[in-house]
Amino acid sequence: MVKNNLHQRKRRAIIAATGSAVPEKILDNADLEKMVDTSDSWITTRTGIKQRRIISDGETTASLALQAARKALEKSNIKGEDIELIICATITPEMVFPSTACFVQSGLNNCSCCAFDLSAACSGYTYAIAVASSLIETGRYNNALVMGSETLSNITNYQDRSSCILFGDGAGAALLKAEENSSRGVLYSSLHADGSNWETLNCMAYGSRYPVTKKLTDQNKIYMQVRGRETYQLAVRRIVEMTEEAYAHCGVSNDDITLIIPHQMNARIIESVVKRLNLPEEKMFVNIDKYGNTSSASIAIALDEAISNGLLKKNDLVVLVAFGAGLTWAVDLIKL
Ligand code: ACO
Repeated sequence: MVKNNLHQRKRRAIIAATGSAVPEKILDNADLEKMVDTSDSWITTRTGIKQRRIISDGETTASLALQAARKALEKSNIKGEDIELIICATITPEMVFPSTACFVQSGLNNCSCCAFDLSAACSGYTYAIAVASSLIETGRYNNALVMGSETLSNITNYQDRSSCILFGDGAGAALLKAEENSSRGVLYSSLHADGSNWETLNCMAYGSRYPVTKKLTDQNKIYMQVRGRETYQLAVRRIVEMTEEAYAHCGVSNDDITLIIPHQMNARIIESVVKRLNLPEEKMFVNIDKYGNTSSASIAIALDEAISNGLLKKNDLVVLVAFGAGLTWAVDLIKL
């Protein structure tokens, strides 16, 4: 757990710029109606999702991440070759190895910085912000590029109506930089996991348990398996818990927060969280209707969108809060 006092001035990691990139190709509910036994009204009322973005030939997790990174760099005075730390949160990496982060690094003509992937599923970006900001606070690095990038369409079973309606592809990026004697930046992070519950959400194939060289007895193992109802209940509980923990630690309330950006998993989960937190609706960011669940990329895309749309500005307090496979759950409270 990373702890920080809200008003204490110190060396902190501030968000210098953000960017995002989604594929052009749209898969909407009408398209899914032609693929499985479902309907726009079922999907909309149960999930809030209207469409998702899906990669086309040539688009990959690293290419989306690189596009998002370049957009963030264009908005900052940091050059690609000057980045000191690159973390890419993903569960659909470019390859088993090298890491997706290494491909992005190469694309930015940066040939020596630290680069690695972080696997914490839907909590990945929230985890990565916490890791990067901690390393900046210690003085080890002066800046970092943090990305969440996914091509979930590659591991989605488009014959399973209960899961294929949920997922989309995309990437988001944030550039973090050190600011001395600062009261802005990543003020509080809390990261958690419970591996005993791994069966709730998983994709089993191509690791050491089910290697690519062994014939799979169950072809479904190459796709995400989702126990929707279990996930739903746990997600609401953990997201509320994490937000309240961050509030308590920083001594803030709904009144002080400009926006909460939750992992975009299901609009109904987000509505339940709004009710439980007694939060004014306009303080909860929702864009799941456009992109579906993009796992590690979801909060990264949402943060960039909220900043670009003017919903967030300098000195605003924003909460990033996530729940996902692992199980994992995490929060970052940031003063922009
Ligand atoms: N269209 C029509 N009917 C459907 C569909 C569909 N797409 N999917 C399921 N149904 C049916 C089921 O077969 C079932 O029918 P039955 O009652 O005749 O058996 C009925 O709808 C209810 O099914 P449930 O699974 O109980 O539906 P629920 O209300 O729980 O909604 C959902 C399912 C949307 C998946 C919900 O549980 C959810 O959003 N869960 C959390 C999201 C999630 O798990 N995300 C994955 C995170 S993993 C990651 O991000 C990497």
